[in-house]
Amino acid sequence: MTNTTSIWIDLASFLGHALENTRAVATWSSLPWILGWVTLTVMGPVVAVKVVYRTLQTLMSWAFSSDSGLRGKIVLVTGASSGVGEAVAHALYRRGARLILASRNTQKLNDLKEILLKTYKVEEVHVPTVVKLDLEDINSIPGVVTGLLTSHGHIDILINNAGMSYRGAVIDTDVSVDIRLMVVNYFGHVALTKALLPSMVKRKSGHIVGVSSLQGKLALPFRSCYSASKHAMQGFYDSLRAEVADSKILVSVVSPGYISTNLSLNAITKDGSTYGISDKANAEGMKPETVAESIVNCLLSGQEDMVLAPAVHQLGVILHTLTPTLISRYMKHRANQNRKEMIAVDKEK
Ligand SMILES: NC(=O)c1ccc[n+]([C@@H]2O[C@H](COP(=O)([O-])OP(=O)(O)OC[C@H]3O[C@@H](n4cnc5c(N)ncnc54)[C@H](OP(=O)(O)O)[C@@H]3O)[C@@H](O)[C@H]2O)c1
Repeated sequence: MTNTTSIWIDLASFLGHALENTRAVATWSSLPWILGWVTLTVMGPVVAVKVVYRTLQTLMSWAFSSDSGLRGKIVLVTGASSGVGEAVAHALYRRGARLILASRNTQKLNDLKEILLKTYKVEEVHVPTVVKLDLEDINSIPGVVTGLLTSHGHIDILINNAGMSYRGAVIDTDVSVDIRLMVVNYFGHVALTKALLPSMVKRKSGHIVGVSSLQGKLALPFRSCYSASKHAMQGFYDSLRAEVADSKILVSVVSPGYISTNLSLNAITKDGSTYGISDKANAEGMKPETVAESIVNCLLSGQEDMVLAPAVHQLGVILHTLTPTLISRYMKHRANQNRKEMIAVDKEK
């Protein structure tokens, strides 16, 4: 008999006794204890294994890597004009990396370049390159990459970070919105990765990092195409990682929870218009600098899958695998709450 089976049999007999021997009121009052017991017995070993694994990984990364591992590395960061990408640019520049800053807004990228040059004293100054990149313009991507390979010779690290979010209900969202989200968050990164891959394979070296989201592991209501794009990203990189391992190319997926950036402000809605609201969850989320330091850790340690979120959100991902029905019930409840909030927001607009 497996441990899990015996746990459920114990639980059933415990519940049976509880029903036989006590009145309904007493059973209800023991419910928190039962839930606590189930959580500890089922989740305890899972969490313990994860904590030991993560601790070992962190120790290994401290033992075998140092910041100097990034010195002189040529790193292409997409979405560097704001939020996580901007913070990653700071974290890498001060460690001596040679940066290529990419996004649509070259004015912001040039401002960032000046700030980096003024703020940090580095051993060897590598003036960051600014490049205009619109992921929606898929056909332009190979040309941009060819230009960068010609000017830089090669690219060591690609950080596929650029992205946009979405707020809306499936039923009234125009399909053009779904397509746009998928192009920016998924196909754009696929095109960039494909354009760069042959050069990495030829050199038998490279690291590709996809900045996904916790929503790439657990879909939320009213975020359908965002969640779908991040799930797609996870699948693409998981496949790619296995394919390019023999070419010594590393592939990592970083999945953060809420971060305090402009993501919700810039999110698009059912008709493609901008959402324009900074959600409380985002505003109260992690600092982009914290996420950037974790991405640096990922580069140094080669960690393949990194989830950055409070324990309760990580628990949601684990429960989604262990008991999907429970999470599905929670999401239905959450959808009802979100619907009311969205109606209130629509009225305010
Ligand atoms: N904030 C969160 O709560 C959160 C949580 C989990 C994951 N993430 C992920 O983190 C990544 C960075 O987002 P952020 O939070 O830093 O948001 P952000 O501050 O809005 O930054 C988004 C970046 O993506 C770029 N971008 C958007 N559309 C683009 C396009 N068509 N072509 C090229 N670049 C484009 C923007 O640059 P331009 O406007 O200059 O083009 C900007 O630099 C995203 O992939 C997001 O999904 C964010």
